[in-house]
Amino acid sequence: SPGGLQDRQGRSIRYLRLSLTDRCNFRCDYCSAAGLEAPEALLGAGELARLVSLFARLGVRRVRLTGGEPTLRRDVVEVAAAVRAVPGIEEVALTTNGHRLAELAGPLHRAGVGAVNVSLDTLDPAMLERVSGRGARLADVLAGLDAAAAEGFAALKVNTVVMGGVNDGELAALTRHAWSRGATPRFIELMPFGSGRPVPSAEVERRLGEAGVALSPDPARGWGPARYLRGRCADGAGGLVGFIGALTENFCASCNRARISADGAFQACLGGHERVPLRQLLREGASDALLEDRVRGALWRKEPRHHMDDPARLVLLPMRGIGG
Ligand code: GTP
Ligand code: 5AD
Ligand code: SF4
Repeated sequence: SPGGLQDRQGRSIRYLRLSLTDRCNFRCDYCSAAGLEAPEALLGAGELARLVSLFARLGVRRVRLTGGEPTLRRDVVEVAAAVRAVPGIEEVALTTNGHRLAELAGPLHRAGVGAVNVSLDTLDPAMLERVSGRGARLADVLAGLDAAAAEGFAALKVNTVVMGGVNDGELAALTRHAWSRGATPRFIELMPFGSGRPVPSAEVERRLGEAGVALSPDPARGWGPARYLRGRCADGAGGLVGFIGALTENFCASCNRARISADGAFQACLGGHERVPLRQLLREGASDALLEDRVRGALWRKEPRHHMDDPARLVLLPMRGIGG
C-alpha cells in the first residue's frame, strides 16, 4: 500500500507477531527464559488494539498472537476479538502449546481466530516432560489439538522443533498424528536460543522418506517462512508437510513480518537487537505520528538477514517474550 511499511531492502511488512505475555507453564529447553515481566509491563487490551490499528493503517493484514503462552492471559479471548475487529486486519492467528485449547478452542474461534498452530515436539509423555518441564502434560496438549480439529479452524498446524537424539525418531509418527487430526505437520530447525542439537530440514526430509513418508513437490505457499511438500504413505495417509529451515534455508529475503514483544517493544527482526519501547512511548502519551516515525526508523535499520547460523556471531537471544 502507498505509505505502507517497508524496510530498507524494500520488504513490505504485512504480518505482525504480537506476544501477549512472557509467561509460560512449560519450560522448553530451547526457549531460554527472559525473566518474568511485572504485570504492569504487559500491554493492556486497549493498548494492543491501538497498536494493531496503527499497524493496520500502515498495511499490516495479519496478526499472530504468541507468547510465552498466549492462552495464559486471562483476557486472551477479548484481545483476539479486539484485534480481529480492527479495520484492515484480515486474519488473526494463534501459536500455542495447546494445554488450554480444550476449553479455549471454541471461544477463540468465535472471537475470530482463524488459524491455530499447536506446538508438539513428541508423542511420548515422559519425553515431553523432559523437553518442556514438569508442567507439560501430553494428554492436555493432545486434547487441545483434538478440540481445535473439531472446531474447524481455517488452518491448523502442528509445530515440531526437531532435536537430534530427542525426537528425530518420531518424525513419521508426528506427521501421521497431525494428518489424522486434519492438521499440517511442520518441522522446525532449532534456533540457538537454548540447548539442543539442530537437525537440518534436508535431513528431516530424508528421514521421513526412510520412515515411509514419500515426499513430492506441492504448490502450497503460506504467509511465513515454511515451505511445503506433499507427503504420502503406503496405507493411503497423506497431506502437506511443512519445513522451516531457519538455519540452513535462510528465508529472510522474503521476510514480511515484524514483532511486538510481551513488554511492548517493537522488534524489526527476530534475530535483531534494536527494540523500540512502544509501551513506554504510549504511556508517555506519544502520538500515532511519533510511534510511526520510530517504527519506520527501526525498519530502516532492519538487517537484510539474521545471523543465527553463524557461530562467530552467536548470541543467545531469549525466545520467551519475543514469541518466535
Ligand atoms: P504460519 O503463518 O502459520 O506459517 O506461521 P509461522 O511459521 O509464521 O509462525 P509460528 O509461530 O508457527 O512459528 C513457527 C516457527 O517459525 C517458530 O520456530 C518461529 O520461531 C519461526 N519463525 C516465525 N517467524 C520467523 C521469522 O521471521 N524468522 C525466523 N528466523 N523464524 C521465524
Ligand atoms: N528454535 C526454533 N523454534 C522454536 N520455538 C521456540 N523456541 C525455538 C527455537 N529455539 C518454537 C516453538 C513454537 C514456536 C512459536 O516457536 O516450538 O512452535
Ligand atoms: Fe525476517 Fe529477521 Fe525472521 Fe529473517 S530472521 S525472516 S529478517 S524477522
